[in-house]
Amino acid sequence: MQAPTRRAALYACALALFLLEGSAAQAANSVPHLRKQGTATQLMVNDQPFLVLGGELHNSSASHLPYLNKLWPALKGAEVNTILAPVQWDQIEPVEGRFDFTVLDGMLKQARANDTKLILLWFGAWKNSMSTYVPPWVKRDVQRFPRSLARNGVAQEVLTPFSPKTLAADTAAYRALLAHLKQVDTERTVVMIQVENEIGMLPDVRDYSPLANAAIAEQVPKALTDYLNANRARLHPSLQALWAANGHRASGTWAEVFGTSVAAEEVFQAWGYATFVEALTAAGKAAYPLPMYVNAALNRPGKKPGEYPSAGPLPHLFDVWKAGAPSLDVLAIDTYFPNFTDWAPQFKRPDNPLFVPEADNAGRHDAAAKAFYAIGEFDAFGFSPFGVEDSKASDPLPQAYRLLRQLTPLINQVQGSGNMRGFKAKVSYDGVVDASPQQVTMGGYALQVGFSNPWAKTDAKDLEGCGGLIIRLSDDEFLLAGKGLTVTFKDATGAGDLVGLEKVTEGTYENGKWKDGRWLNGDEIHQGRQVMLVTGDFTMQRVKLYRYR
Ligand code: DGJ
Repeated sequence: MQAPTRRAALYACALALFLLEGSAAQAANSVPHLRKQGTATQLMVNDQPFLVLGGELHNSSASHLPYLNKLWPALKGAEVNTILAPVQWDQIEPVEGRFDFTVLDGMLKQARANDTKLILLWFGAWKNSMSTYVPPWVKRDVQRFPRSLARNGVAQEVLTPFSPKTLAADTAAYRALLAHLKQVDTERTVVMIQVENEIGMLPDVRDYSPLANAAIAEQVPKALTDYLNANRARLHPSLQALWAANGHRASGTWAEVFGTSVAAEEVFQAWGYATFVEALTAAGKAAYPLPMYVNAALNRPGKKPGEYPSAGPLPHLFDVWKAGAPSLDVLAIDTYFPNFTDWAPQFKRPDNPLFVPEADNAGRHDAAAKAFYAIGEFDAFGFSPFGVEDSKASDPLPQAYRLLRQLTPLINQVQGSGNMRGFKAKVSYDGVVDASPQQVTMGGYALQVGFSNPWAKTDAKDLEGCGGLIIRLSDDEFLLAGKGLTVTFKDATGAGDLVGLEKVTEGTYENGKWKDGRWLNGDEIHQGRQVMLVTGDFTMQRVKLYRYR
């Protein structure tokens, strides 16, 4: 080879290597995003699936850096890998157009020093329905930023979502936040953003301000009627009923398309909120495309919209929110009622992954069981109880998170494959526990999963704390993780085989590799009849089955 040609070839090689390395570095540092795997949705951070084992701070804990700094020992003790923390509009934009990100930047620094990711909660126009986090220049200027009015005409401390000026101001602040993050967070400490907080109208079903009254007299936007038509077969039954009762109209005023009932007014108000949030989300993503979600305050049974925060991203309004805010990635559940097993399935749909940004208090006896259930049964990509700085090392949640951390590589691998199930005793809204065994089929086996330890007395509170997940590792092998599960296996192929326990091993995962602990037999497997995860602790077992006649 001639010298110049050889030099050219060497140069080409070096360039290729450089480009390769560059693209690998770029990939490792790509913006957090969501990715589908089978029926699951995974949060990708540095291009790896990231299971959020999170906790949300109390509302005011991140507003003062020295205060936040003192919380880290407790937060580390809680075993979280992610903190959900507010960023408040009044703090970052005290004067219109002048932004101060000192506290946010300090929070990023603290999180990095503690090897913890952040999900930021944008407390903008609304926080729990109210508008108390808007800056003074918004609060005081009711002409420019009009309030919602109750049906009786009384002004509320709730900005109307129908004001273009309010939308412009909130959007500008939110866009500035995302643009700032893009600049300062090349490390990808922030993995997702919540847009506003528990949006919903109080004390009536809708806003009765002049702007709202004018909007409800207009035609239903085509984006909504088009969505209804395109999704006719899949609409939530309550929306379907409203639309059907008025003749499935493809156009018309709000009253013509949905009628004038309270339910119809809630649909209108939901559209107002959803389209407001859409503008923020789209503008924020244009600046820096992090995944974004909204969180829902659930409606209490028997309460009317307005008695609960009306028109939020609730399951009966999902279609309105999906049509009005297509840029949002997730409509997420805040769960403070005991009947999580009734609500969680409603938040998992093909167009909506399960993410739980708030779940009761982190110290509650059943928080861990809910985490196992959400992750195991619905491929939730994250779970995060509220008030995490209050949790103690002896609480169930840190113990459960320690176990889930070990299991994360396996969970990430099986998400969306149908080879993982989650279990938790059912509890009614009124707190009545139904711990009757649950039946599921996994591969060629029918599993009966009971709660409690058959050798010990288990009271109702203990039963609420029982929960876990089961992963099918291969045709005859299962992994059980959690607390207080009793499992029996039967043939589900119809072959008529009897099923026995070949070997049951307690153990741990270290760096994704199983490490054997005790070989369980005798009393620990009820002489071969069943496998049992004890009630006292969170543990794991691998179970190898065999068939006989
Ligand atoms: C739900 C809200 O979203 C949180 O910000 C906080 O106020 C909790 N309720 C308190 O329980």
